[in-house]
Amino acid sequence: MLSGKTIVLGVSGGIAAYKAVELLRLFVKAGADVHVVMTRNAQEFVTPLTFQTLSTHPVHTELFNLYQEREIGHISLADRADLFVVAPATANLVGKVASGIADDLLTTTIMATKAPVLFAPAMNVNMWENPLYRQNQDKLQDLGYHFLEPETGPLACGWEGKGKLPDPAAILEETVALFAPKDLSGETILVTAGPTREELDPVRYLSNYSSGKMGYAIARAARSRGARVILVSGPTALAPPCGVEVHGVTSALQMRKAVVALAAESTVIFKAAAVADYRPATVAAEKIKKEGAGSLSLTLEKNPDILAELGRMKGERILVGFAAETADLVKNARKKLQEKNLDLIVANDVTQPGAGFDVDTNIVRLLSREGSEEVLPQLPKDEVAHRLLDRIVRLRRG
Ligand code: CTP
Repeated sequence: MLSGKTIVLGVSGGIAAYKAVELLRLFVKAGADVHVVMTRNAQEFVTPLTFQTLSTHPVHTELFNLYQEREIGHISLADRADLFVVAPATANLVGKVASGIADDLLTTTIMATKAPVLFAPAMNVNMWENPLYRQNQDKLQDLGYHFLEPETGPLACGWEGKGKLPDPAAILEETVALFAPKDLSGETILVTAGPTREELDPVRYLSNYSSGKMGYAIARAARSRGARVILVSGPTALAPPCGVEVHGVTSALQMRKAVVALAAESTVIFKAAAVADYRPATVAAEKIKKEGAGSLSLTLEKNPDILAELGRMKGERILVGFAAETADLVKNARKKLQEKNLDLIVANDVTQPGAGFDVDTNIVRLLSREGSEEVLPQLPKDEVAHRLLDRIVRLRRG
C-alpha cells in the first residue's frame, strides 16, 4: 500500500506518543520507508530506541547535532519525504507551526518541507475546544495542511471528551488516502455491505456469514480516490471508514428503504451486501419455546430483491452487483447480471479457500454487460476494491 513512499513520522510530546509506535509498525508493514523525528517532550514518553528499532533508521531528535546532520540533514529529510505525518500532534506543536515558529527539529522540517503534512491531534478536550487552538487548526487547514479528527472518549487527563488520538489503523487509512489518485472525484458512490438479520423472535434471527469486509474495502478505496461515499451497512464488527457517511440497518426491508432513498443522489452503486432472501413470515412477540420432541417448521416470506429494483430505476447510474455462488459460477452470475440490469457483476465462488465470507482476500471474476470477463487472482480485499474502481473509471471514460 505504501511501498516506495518515504514518510517522516513526527512525534510530539503527549501521552498518545506510545500509539505512534504502533503507527510506525503499520507504516513499515505497508512498505513505507519511515524516518522518525521526535520532539524533546516526546522522548519523555517513549524512547527513541523503540522507534529506531522498528524503523531501522536513526531517530532524529536535535536540530544542532553534528552526527545526525551528517547522517541525514534536516533539510534533506524535509526534501526526501513524500508525506509528513505528525502523530500525536499536540496543541503546542500545532500552535507553533501555525505561527511559523521553527525552534526545534520537528517544527523546522515541517516548515522546510514541500510534502503534504497530516496532523493527528491529541490533547485535553478543553484545549481542543479552546478558540486559540481552533484558530490555529483552521489557519493551517486553509493553507492546505491535513488534519484528522480526534476521537471521543476517556482522556488520560481524567476528562471525558474529544481529544484522543485516532486509532493507528485510521491514521494509516488516511495516509493511504492521501497518496491515492483522485480519479473518482465528482462521483457519489453508494455501497451496501454486510449481512442482514431477519428477526424471528426477541432473541433470535436468521442471517448469513457475511463480514462486510468487501463492501467496507470498496467504501474506503472509493473515498481515498476522491468520491463522496455513502455506506449502507448491515450489522458488522468493522470500524466505520473515515470520511464515509454510514447508515446502519439491520433487516433487508430496512436496507431496501435506505438504499432506495439514497440511490437518487448516487452515481455509482455497489451492492456488496449479502441480503437475506427470506424473512420469517411472522415475528414472535415472545421467545419461541421448544415444545414436545418434534421438529419446528418456520414459514418464510420472500424479501424484496433490492438490486433488481435498482436495476429497474437504473438511469445513468453504474450498477455493480455481486454473485456469491457455490456452483456454476459464471452461468449463475451472468443470469443475475442480465436479470437485474447491471453494468458489472463481481462473481466469486465462496467455496474456494481465500474467497468469499469473512476472509481478508477474495478471488473474483468481473463480468460486464458487454460480455467481457476479467479473472483476478487471489488478492487482498482492499486491492480487489481498487481493481473494481479502476473498472468504474474505465466505464466513465467510455
Ligand atoms: N441482492 C439484493 N437483494 C436481495 C438479494 C440479493 O439486493 N434480496 C443483491 C446482492 O446484494 C448481490 C446480488 O443481489 O449484489 C446477488 O445476490 P446473491 O445472494 O448472490 O443472489 P440472489 O439474487 O439472492 O440469488 P440466489 O440467492 O438465488 O443465488
